[in-house]
Amino acid sequence: MNIFEALRVSHEAQRALSARLLASEPGSPDRQRIFLDLRRELMAHETAEERCFYVPLLEHDATVDEARHGIAEHHEIDEMVEQLQQQDIAAPPWTLAARKLCDKVEHHLKEEETKFFQEAGKVLTQTQKLSLAKDYEAEFLTLRTKED
Ligand SMILES: [Fe+2]
Ligand SMILES: [Fe+2]
Repeated sequence: MNIFEALRVSHEAQRALSARLLASEPGSPDRQRIFLDLRRELMAHETAEERCFYVPLLEHDATVDEARHGIAEHHEIDEMVEQLQQQDIAAPPWTLAARKLCDKVEHHLKEEETKFFQEAGKVLTQTQKLSLAKDYEAEFLTLRTKED
């Protein structure tokens, strides 16, 4: 598995959780559980992706701008998650804000997959693509299973 395939596994997990979140009953314990699961998934992915993918790409002129942009979007997503956490999950604005978060996440994933991965593919070596995948998977697993 290379780094792009490893990241896509996480992206699909986020998409599945986003869909389940929006399909869940407003204010239900199920919705609360799915939200916490999505939050954990997003946070583990962002951190592991920054450490094992964005950092090596900051070193290249061809990918530095996209890397900065991606990290800024992670920050925006974090703030949206933080806001959702502080709002009443049973109130209608929560659903609206959750939809905005899921749209933002999908925008971010698509941009990474369709633009950034192509640029990154040109600057990373074959060996790096494989070793970064291993680094990512180990880092992600550690963060994903860490207690809050
Ligand atoms: Fe990302
Ligand atoms: Fe990603």
